[in-house]
Amino acid sequence: MGTATLLSLALGASACGGARSSSSEASDSYTIKFSHVVTPQTPKGQAAEKFAELIDEGCGDQMKVEVYPNSELYGDEDELQALQSGAVQMLAPSSAKFTTIAPQLQVLDLPFLFDSVDDIPNVVSPDSAVGKAIYENQALADKGIKVLGLWDNGLKQLSSNDEMQKPADLKGLRFRIQPSDVLRSQFDAWGAQTTPMAFAEVYNALQQGVIDGQENPYSNIESQNMHTVQKHITESNHGYIGYVHAINKKFFESLPDDLQTCVTDAADEAAAYNREIASDLNQKAKQTIVDAGTTKITELTPEQRQAFKDEVVPSVWNQYADVIGQDLIDELVSQQ
Ligand code: LMR
Repeated sequence: MGTATLLSLALGASACGGARSSSSEASDSYTIKFSHVVTPQTPKGQAAEKFAELIDEGCGDQMKVEVYPNSELYGDEDELQALQSGAVQMLAPSSAKFTTIAPQLQVLDLPFLFDSVDDIPNVVSPDSAVGKAIYENQALADKGIKVLGLWDNGLKQLSSNDEMQKPADLKGLRFRIQPSDVLRSQFDAWGAQTTPMAFAEVYNALQQGVIDGQENPYSNIESQNMHTVQKHITESNHGYIGYVHAINKKFFESLPDDLQTCVTDAADEAAAYNREIASDLNQKAKQTIVDAGTTKITELTPEQRQAFKDEVVPSVWNQYADVIGQDLIDELVSQQ
């Protein structure tokens, strides 16, 4: 009997209200298909592999994880559907990818929510106002998605073929964005144009001139070779890419108690590992870009960075009070 059949039997038993054993039966086996869109070398790619290793080492041979990187199984356009239908059991999409099904997650896309990577752990801790909007998100629960954790990539930089030292330098340039309204408004405020596009298509679109620029942390820029087709990067650290480590809720609840614990423990450990390595991987990627000599990196002075911030904070934040929650926005604005 194939794994898929075993899985559907397990899901079927749970869906029909069948008794669930409190510890795993030796005959049951479970496969977690974990699909993602970046390379294995990135903060998400490494954390996904760590999670698979931890399950392999700590959960006995009844459970295994198959990691599918690089959009090879599902990409931005269909991975959330695949998670909800149970075609895959696990994903870690960036917050922006949830805009349609859980728009409040765009709180993580608010420009300049973080001044530096050091702010990330506090701002997104599970008991902070932002953390609660993620971990206790009702729209995700209603769609059968359980949040296991939040992983970092890091802070985004701007890239294009033009030097960008002030917002006016972006005027008329077309930037690829993830499908988030907040990100569209951010670029609108800077006078730029936007095109939502799947991550896997960005390199070709840059190379062919379909778009002029994009925004991502160094690790994504370097691992996709975007720097080879972008003459300039502005180190703006203007936004965050964080990942919602998520599992299909029905699948999770179909697992015996000991395997559920094993999954949540491995998820916690993978999240800690991710946070340990993310900054370093971005620094290494930056160095690789510098060494390649293809791209000039402009580091903004505090005043130059502030000029980008003034165009979007608090105006873009307030624009999304309805979607993100007035109380949450008020709290974030008051902390500025
Ligand atoms: C992007 O689409 O630019 C990123 O969210 C990709 C990723 O998963 O880091």
